Amino acid sequence: MKPKVFSTHGLFPPARTLLEKSFDVDYWSREERPPRDELLRRVADKDALICLLTEKVNDELLDRAPKLRIAATVSVGYDNIDVPACTRRKIIATHTPGVLDDTTADFAFALLMAVARRVVEGDAWMRTGTWPGWNLDQLCGGDIWGKTLGIIGFGRIGRAVAKRAQGFDMRILYSDARRAAPEAERDLHAEFVSLDRLLAESDFISVHVPLLPETRHLINAQTLAKMKPGAYLINTSRGPVVDEAALAAALEAKTIRGAALDVFESEPKVLPALVGRKDVVLTPHIASASVETRTKMAMMAAENVIALFEGRRPANALNPEALAAAT
Ligand code: GLV
Repeated sequence: MKPKVFSTHGLFPPARTLLEKSFDVDYWSREERPPRDELLRRVADKDALICLLTEKVNDELLDRAPKLRIAATVSVGYDNIDVPACTRRKIIATHTPGVLDDTTADFAFALLMAVARRVVEGDAWMRTGTWPGWNLDQLCGGDIWGKTLGIIGFGRIGRAVAKRAQGFDMRILYSDARRAAPEAERDLHAEFVSLDRLLAESDFISVHVPLLPETRHLINAQTLAKMKPGAYLINTSRGPVVDEAALAAALEAKTIRGAALDVFESEPKVLPALVGRKDVVLTPHIASASVETRTKMAMMAAENVIALFEGRRPANALNPEALAAAT
């Protein structure tokens, strides 16, 4: 009998084909996310779980899945998975790092450009049929080229954003818990600075940190107040890194000029105070959403599951120590 997998998404055809060779796969194929009780019911007899960042894999779920050997999230962020809880049960947790860096960086840059150059406002205006024709002072935004970009979190995605910024002759500052190697700083023309200096000197701030207790509300009333007047904030990391109410207040007070957000504190909800604002660009958590990249992510999750059941170490294990304990 083939091992059983519950996949909380229908995945893409190449990943389905790969999985179905060796597993009996039960898919959740509806657009809305599975209700919690349905998820708990469906994992009860499964050997493996493939899930999205919307599913919490915690003690409650793991207690209901006594046969589970792996929880593979189709995302690079894994704040949805209680990794120590998996480790305690010798369950491997995996994620999908590496394949989405450039796609996400492209999108962070798209947001930066959209908010600075008022692309969304322009599009909305054209669709009303009321554009009277060219004029000198219409929808003037802020320049991008030659400005200072502050990157908070200089991991793979932050560095991919820095690479793009070079094409715009931007000065690049970064802050991170760890300083990058001198070669990386040199190649990316990036200067390591304190968070305070980054906030004070950047015209654009792009956030690329994981969600951790120490990064929750990293952007708050105090840090927003330290931002350069007229600066823009871009967030493609995790919503709770930004205190949305404080952001709305800073925009209302015009201490900063705009924000572009792909992630939200309580997804799928968006703070109403942000929704009506023209100085905010809002997108539905799609920074990694190219067909190519999302397919690679699904394949990666499938390959991690396959590796485990073939007796190999899954390439993207978050807790390889669980594997050692299980053998
Ligand atoms: C998306 O947000 C991811 O973590 O992959």
